[in-house]
Parts: sequence; C-alpha cells; structure tokens
Amino acid sequence: MRVTLSIFLPLLFGALLASATSSIPSRTLKRASPSKYVTTSGGTFNYNEQPFRFVGTNAYWLPVLNSDEDIANTLSNMSAKGIKVVRVWAFNDVEAPTDEGVYFQTISNGVATINDGPNGLQRLDKVIELAEKANMWILPSLTNNWFPTADDTPSRRWATDTPRNYLSNDYGGMDAYVKAFVGTTGKHDEFYTNEKILNSFLNYTTQIVSRYVESPAVFGWELANDPRCYSTLAASSSCTPQTITQWHSTVAQHIKSIDPNHLVSSGNQGFFCVDCPKLFPLQAPPPQVSPAPGAQRRNVKPLSKSRLFLERQEARKRTREAKKRAGIVEPAALKIRGKWGAAAAKRQSSSTATAFDGSQGVDSQDILNIPEIGFGTAQLFPDQAQYSVDGLDSPYNYDALVQEGISWIQLQAQSAQTYGKPVFLTAFGLVSESNAPFFVPFNNTLPVSSSQTFITDQQRDEAYVQWLNTGYTSGLSGMVQYQWGQSNLTVKAGTAIAPPATSAKFRRQGTSSPNYDSSTQSPNDGYFDQGAQWGSDIGGSMGWPDIISELASLLHF
Ligand SMILES: *[C@@H]1O[C@H](CO)[C@@H](O)[C@H](O)[C@H]1NC(C)=O
Ligand SMILES: *[C@@H]1O[C@H](CO)[C@@H](O)[C@H](O)[C@H]1NC(C)=O
Ligand SMILES: *[C@@H]1O[C@H](CO)[C@@H](O)[C@H](O)[C@H]1NC(C)=O
Ligand SMILES: *[C@@H]1O[C@H](CO)[C@@H](O)[C@H](O)[C@H]1NC(C)=O
Repeated sequence: MRVTLSIFLPLLFGALLASATSSIPSRTLKRASPSKYVTTSGGTFNYNEQPFRFVGTNAYWLPVLNSDEDIANTLSNMSAKGIKVVRVWAFNDVEAPTDEGVYFQTISNGVATINDGPNGLQRLDKVIELAEKANMWILPSLTNNWFPTADDTPSRRWATDTPRNYLSNDYGGMDAYVKAFVGTTGKHDEFYTNEKILNSFLNYTTQIVSRYVESPAVFGWELANDPRCYSTLAASSSCTPQTITQWHSTVAQHIKSIDPNHLVSSGNQGFFCVDCPKLFPLQAPPPQVSPAPGAQRRNVKPLSKSRLFLERQEARKRTREAKKRAGIVEPAALKIRGKWGAAAAKRQSSSTATAFDGSQGVDSQDILNIPEIGFGTAQLFPDQAQYSVDGLDSPYNYDALVQEGISWIQLQAQSAQTYGKPVFLTAFGLVSESNAPFFVPFNNTLPVSSSQTFITDQQRDEAYVQWLNTGYTSGLSGMVQYQWGQSNLTVKAGTAIAPPATSAKFRRQGTSSPNYDSSTQSPNDGYFDQGAQWGSDIGGSMGWPDIISELASLLHF
C-alpha cells in the first residue's frame, strides 16, 4: 500500500492547529521603526518586536535572470505562496571578464577584481531592491564550497554540458580562489587558512556587505554554502572542524565590524561532531534555585554520542506510535532507485557516521556558539549525504530516509535550544522521478546512472509534509525548501536561461525528450518544484508550494 499525502495532512494540520499560539505576528510585514532588521531573542527570531517563524525557498539564480520583470514576477509568485525568505548566491566568480551573462568578480593569478557594472553587482542590487518592494527577505550567501569538475566522463557529464550559472555549483567559490591564488595543486581548505585568500575573501565580503548595511531586505548574512574541508579539490590532512570554526569566527567578526545591523550565519549543513573538543565551549548555565513548575528540561551540553543513540531509539518509537494512531500501514516494500528497500539495516553499530563524526570538517555546534554568529543553519539532502546515526541504514529505504530527516530536524531544534540561538533548515530536498534527468550532485562526483530510479513526486511531497510537520512541532525557526522552479523566463543565449538548442542537452541520456520544455525555466539541479503546474502530474495531491502555502497561512507569517 502506498502512503498517501491525504493521510498525512490531518496529522500535519491537526498538529499545527493544536499548537497555534495567540502571540503570532501579523501576516503583513511592516518595515517601520524601531525594528527595521531581524533580531533574535534566545532561540527565536524577532521582527518588529514580534517573534516569527517562516517558510522559504532557494533561488540561487535570481541575480542572473535576464530581466527585472522576471525577478519581480518570481518574488511575487513566491510571496503569493507565503514565502518570506529567499536564499540567493551573492557570489559569482569567473576567471576572466565575459559578456555572456552575469559575474560579480574575476579571480585569476592571485588577483580578484569586483565587477560592479550592469552585468555585475548591479544585478544583485536589483534583487535586493525588488525584495524590499515585495516585503521579502533575501538570505545572501557569500561563497560556495562546491565547484564543477572539468571532467567530462559520462557520469559527470552535466557539469560541462550546462551553461555557466545553470548549476548551483557553477558560480565560482572556494576552489576558484584556491586555483587562482595557489594553483591547481592547492588543497580545498587552503581557502580557510591561506592569508592571501583570506584577505581577498574579506575584501569581497566588505564590498558586498557594505552595499546593503541599511537594507531591511537582507535577512542576515551567510558566510558560505556548505563549507567543508574538501570539494572538487581534496582536503589537506591538517583540516579539522576547528580549522573551519576558526575561519567562521574571523569572517563573522569582520562582517559585524562593517554591518552591526544584520545577523551573521554560517551556511553549513548542520553536521555534528559528537564528543569533539570545542573552540567555543558552552559556559555552564547559571545555577537555578528552583526551576519553574512544568519547565522543560533544557539540554545544556553539546550533542554526545550516547545521547545521539538514545534519541534515535526514542524517535523511532515516537514515529511508529504516531503512524499507528493515524492508521498508517507500513508498506511492505517500496521500490526506491531500482532497489527494493523493505529491509532496513537492523544491525547496530557503536560508531557514528559522517553526519556526526566531524569527518566533513564541520562542527555546527562549535560554530553556533561563536559570539558573532546570530543563528544556526542546517540542510537536509538524503540523496547526497548520509544522515543515519551509524551509517548502517540503506539510503534506498524510503521509510528510513523520511525517519532520518525527522530525527535530523529534531536534533537541529535541540541544538537551538541548547545554544539559545535560532536554527533553521536553509535548504532541504529530495530528488524525485520528474527531476531525475536534471539531478547533479553538488559534489559532481556521485555517478548519476541512466538506469537509476527515483522516488515518485508524491513520495517526495509526503516526506516534505512530515519534515515540515517536524520542523513546526520541534520549534525550528524556519524551513527553506530547495529549490524554487519558475517558468516563462526571458531567454538569452549564453546565459543560464538559454534557448532550447542548449537546453536540449539537459535531456537525460538514453531517453526521449523531457515532459516539459526547460528552455524558459529556472535552473534545476534536481530539485526544481513549481508545484502548481505539476499538480496534475502528481495525482492531484498538493505540490510543494501549496503545502507551504497552507503552512504559512496557518502560522500567519
Ligand atoms: C507569477 O509569475 C507570472 C509570470 O511568470 C506572472 O504572470 C504572474 O502574475 C505571477 N503571479 C503572481 C501571483 O504574482
Ligand atoms: C578590494 O577590492 C577592490 C575592488 O575589487 C579592489 O579595488 C581593491 O584593490 C581590493 N583590495 C585588496 C586589498 O585586495
Ligand atoms: C566528494 O568529493 C570528495 C573528493 O574531493 C570525496 O572524498 C567525497 O567522497 C565525494 N562525495 C561526497 C558525497 O562528498
Ligand atoms: C507560461 O507559458 C506557458 C507556455 O509555455 C503558458 O501555457 C502559460 O500560460 C504561461 N504562464 C504564465 C503565468 O504566463
């Protein structure tokens, strides 16, 4: 039996209605003083002296669209769905100046030069200006961990077949700095430690941040998309989570010295480093003489391995019980990605997997406790990372995949509570059948084989509903989906929105043409979702934007 969305909706909205509080701010944002900017109080965001939570989306490509009208329409379409926060790339590095499309900076031979012309930062200015008009917030990210490979083997074909700026990893970023300042033999993490690179990046940061110090449309700053020790360039053996934490501290202090108005965040994927030494240890909480009656016990320690294993057990129990209450029958087996995934690994291990052991070079809790970091970030991409505690669950098991997402969201919400700062998912997504032809892992190294099968669009939506529900009930401050899909955009050769001759290349190898024309559509690296237009394709169930629209109206964002 297939679990349908309609079964989950009462679960979701029942929970939402039950938890609706009276202190929710008005849906209409007013930009009046005294609170022109987003602030925090404990684990909560405030705007206009009101606590708020939000739904959002990712559109890294907004500044590279070919007309102002396209940007305005996209923001307006998002706003119509209740979206308040849009995550955007505020970097776009090239080796040499180009007339084809937008770029913000050239980096070559150890020299970086800003392009503030009409095909440069003026495009970012326009996005910020139009977001202000639309009463929306932009979350600008200042660089990227990921970079395309030059490799054109079939499994990595997409990186070289797509126009520049089509893929999220094709906007320059850390490896572009390393290649230009150190050379192709450089290690990825020299981005964090090489003094010349650091100065160059701080300079870029100064140029960007100082443009928008007074803009109410900037939600806050994000230092980097998904910072890690490695990318297309490998890591050096000396890179540890503390390397990246230290870099965060330096850059966050720098931004705060230029812009006291906006909050600063990391952009890391929320990986934990259980039982790891911290550069920014938690101070012991003040002694409590008598806790308020009924007060929830607060976790006052960073995540440890023993707590992690205990919580996984409890989370699984809770989910089983919730499903039982909702009358949901466990499917015997689901065909995910061409593999039958009924048998979740039952083995247990005492070691933790990559999302928890610091092996990516990230300790999100140490970063969160840096004084200049205002809020925490996490992401959820089960197609690209392993979220099971011990790494033993099969990534092809749909149920395990959904459950691990739920647990991951709960752990992030607990982190917010422990550190007294808001945390939200800055990106989450699943690749479903209709997006399979477009899927390009950020890393560019995972093979995408044409025989691979993916979850259905409906399964994706069901997972999203459960994750939203968890985000809401566990107290996460926001849920930002990856990635927004926009149609009927202005086409221009040589840009990310290129004419059909180029976009035909995006068709999946060995198959006939895709079921829609991508030529006027926004870039898609496998998560494109415009819901409304796909509504009929997914058996009449709600598309993603409709789900968030419901959520947004219930929350009165
Ligand atoms: C959405 O965008 C389209 C253009 O693609 C525009 O015609 C339409 O008016 C927009 N809708 C809303 C509600 O803003
Ligand atoms: C900082 O960037 C500006 C604009 O590209 C450039 O003129 C200046 O030389 C840079 N300064 C340093 C120290 O790199
Ligand atoms: C990404 O690339 C690096 C090599 O630079 C590799 O070690 C890693 O396993 C790749 N895959 C993922 C999912 O990170
Ligand atoms: C977008 O273009 C399609 C044709 O490709 C058309 O059917 C549809 O009405 C257009 N939508 C808007 C909002 O303009």
